[in-house]
Amino acid sequence: MLVQNKNFTTIWHDDESDKVKIIDQRLIPFELKIVELNTVEEVCYAIKEMQVRGAPLIGVTAAYGMYIAAKENSDFIYLKNASEKIYSTRPTAVNLEWALNKILNNIDNVKKDDLPNKILYLANQIREDDINNCKNIGEHGYKLIKNIYEKNKKPVNILTHCNAGWLAAVDWGTALAPIYVAHKKNIPMHIWVDETRPRNQGFSLTSWELLNENIPNSLIVDNVGGHLMQHKLIDICITGTDRTASNGDVCNKIGTYLKALAAYDNNIPFYVSAPISSIDFNIKNGILDIPIEERDGEEVSHIVGMDENNQRTKIKIVPDGSKCVNYAFDVTPAKYITKFITEKGIIDPNFPSINKLKN
Ligand code: MRU
Repeated sequence: MLVQNKNFTTIWHDDESDKVKIIDQRLIPFELKIVELNTVEEVCYAIKEMQVRGAPLIGVTAAYGMYIAAKENSDFIYLKNASEKIYSTRPTAVNLEWALNKILNNIDNVKKDDLPNKILYLANQIREDDINNCKNIGEHGYKLIKNIYEKNKKPVNILTHCNAGWLAAVDWGTALAPIYVAHKKNIPMHIWVDETRPRNQGFSLTSWELLNENIPNSLIVDNVGGHLMQHKLIDICITGTDRTASNGDVCNKIGTYLKALAAYDNNIPFYVSAPISSIDFNIKNGILDIPIEERDGEEVSHIVGMDENNQRTKIKIVPDGSKCVNYAFDVTPAKYITKFITEKGIIDPNFPSINKLKN
């Protein structure tokens, strides 16, 4: 998608230099900095410290991480250890495990010397598939927005949480993909962007994406959504997912559950854009079985922003000695979800519909 009218993706392999490159998302919206990933350590750091984040992008980064590992040492034991290191960086998004398995399951009969090239080929394929899947989610989801517009004949008001745009994938995004496709087809919309404390992915990333694409949007703090819904200022909610259980429960950025409850109480459709790579077919109950990441309390006690001298600054917003607890995700039970938007079409949030997507 566009950054100052230039097309960007979040990760790519530069054939000329043979380097994997990413956008350092910790610096957005204040700086666009491209960094190289050269070692498995750097890959782990990038995922853990959230230079890259968002379920699909974490998966693609892990795949390129395996290429970097194979260039370091293409011994199978080394590769297995590297995959375990990368796997341990973040626990919730299932795409990480999905991508690592996709690599490991396809290199069994490959000669040691051919492994780096084979893994690069697989990683490039995972990246391309992600772009196509997100584009297809956009095409399917756009019809929902179009139907609302045709019924109301006024800009469609959409609420989204966290960042599930192109920065969370390779391109297009998941929750924002239907919005981008609708925008290209000239459907008027207005997006309500949730702040998404503690790391503010809504304010810093989603708003930046939408501004660069010229899509009207307003930023709201996390507790405003319910009020907007009561006053009929939201037509539809669309979020992403980090891990979808086979019963349709959705684990997504902390706060998603509360928005889904408010939407349910106000009869507002709540859709989840869910690429198949984010479905964990082995998990039967999202609330009981999905691991929820707990991050450093400093993300709660401090905020990063730009000061009046244009310097990126971190400031403390709580009393000294406060205990800050930082759950990064929550689970929305399937009963609060209207439907899933997948790359294969729009489906019900229940076991039979989800299970049909296996393979
Ligand atoms: O902690 P993050 O920024 O990696 O969390 C991202 C989200 O929760 C997204 O909504 C999710 O990955 C779905 S995105 C395509």
